[in-house]
Amino acid sequence: MRVVAATTLDLWSLPPAGQPTSMAQSTPTEQQKVHGQFMTPEWAASELVAHYFGDLTSSDAVIEPSCGEGAFLRALPEHIPAIGVEIDPALAERARASSGRQVIVGDFAAVDLPLRPTALIGNPPFQLAKVQAFLERAWELLPNEGRFGMILPCYTFQTSETVVKINQRWAIRQDMIPRNLFPGLSLPLCFAMLTKAQGGKLFGFALYHEHAAVSRLQARYRALLAQGQKSVWAAVTLAALQALGGEADLSAIYAEVAGAKPTPNPFWREKIRQQLQRLAERCGPGRWRLPAAAALAA
Ligand SMILES: C[S@@+](CC[C@H](N)C(=O)[O-])C[C@H]1O[C@@H](n2cnc3c(N)ncnc32)[C@H](O)[C@@H]1O
Repeated sequence: MRVVAATTLDLWSLPPAGQPTSMAQSTPTEQQKVHGQFMTPEWAASELVAHYFGDLTSSDAVIEPSCGEGAFLRALPEHIPAIGVEIDPALAERARASSGRQVIVGDFAAVDLPLRPTALIGNPPFQLAKVQAFLERAWELLPNEGRFGMILPCYTFQTSETVVKINQRWAIRQDMIPRNLFPGLSLPLCFAMLTKAQGGKLFGFALYHEHAAVSRLQARYRALLAQGQKSVWAAVTLAALQALGGEADLSAIYAEVAGAKPTPNPFWREKIRQQLQRLAERCGPGRWRLPAAAALAA
């Protein structure tokens, strides 16, 4: 029985088939596994460039940061300045020959580059650490509003913490694309468009910021939110005011509900303010108290 190392190959249930070059081998080589050398079909690269980057002009400068055989370089119209970067010299040579573009051999995360890009396009190796290193470099290189569009495994965006962290510096849009673009791939894929913008929006995501905020509240209030029924924010607000002796400033109520590492996210504060207006009475500027019956029930 063949034992497969725990690398990118784990994402592949079958060997890639039908590729015109080295990819046509019956099983991926160690090098293909380590570097994630699985090429985007030519037609798909063309469609992605046309769909997501149809607005590029000759004033732009594009880098395909892990260009492999250069599918995205070939898909870019000739009048748009573009170069590739590829860690494998043999693939870099193929990309150079087939696209007519300059292709630099090296690690995109660190290599010296002859131009400042306005856009990055590609299909990076799928290991999370590499995706993160590529994102760091991209952020250094791109101007504000510069874009990085790439094929990614959906697991890149599976937790709220990761997405919220990336979203601090990038607006993110993601669209699902078929995983069987790559024969044998076993995980869902998306095309992600990251735009360098602080406080940028998320498109194609729901509950990420809310989950990140809730997961940082105090444990007893998280439990009420998870297990309570229906009016869970009412239960949280009542419990917090009761814990504070039935009367408190709004800031003290927030501090009671917030965990040790308070989140600046306004979502849960808004919920508490709404419930205070329903359940409590104002007894001074920014100060709330429970009606006698509710305080007695504490
Ligand atoms: C998934 S393939 C995609 C190739 C090409 N972008 C495409 O879509 O057809 C990823 C490519 O990145 C290259 N690569 C891996 N690590 C790299 C790095 N740190 N810097 C530059 N290229 C890298 C691999 O050799 C491989 O050719």
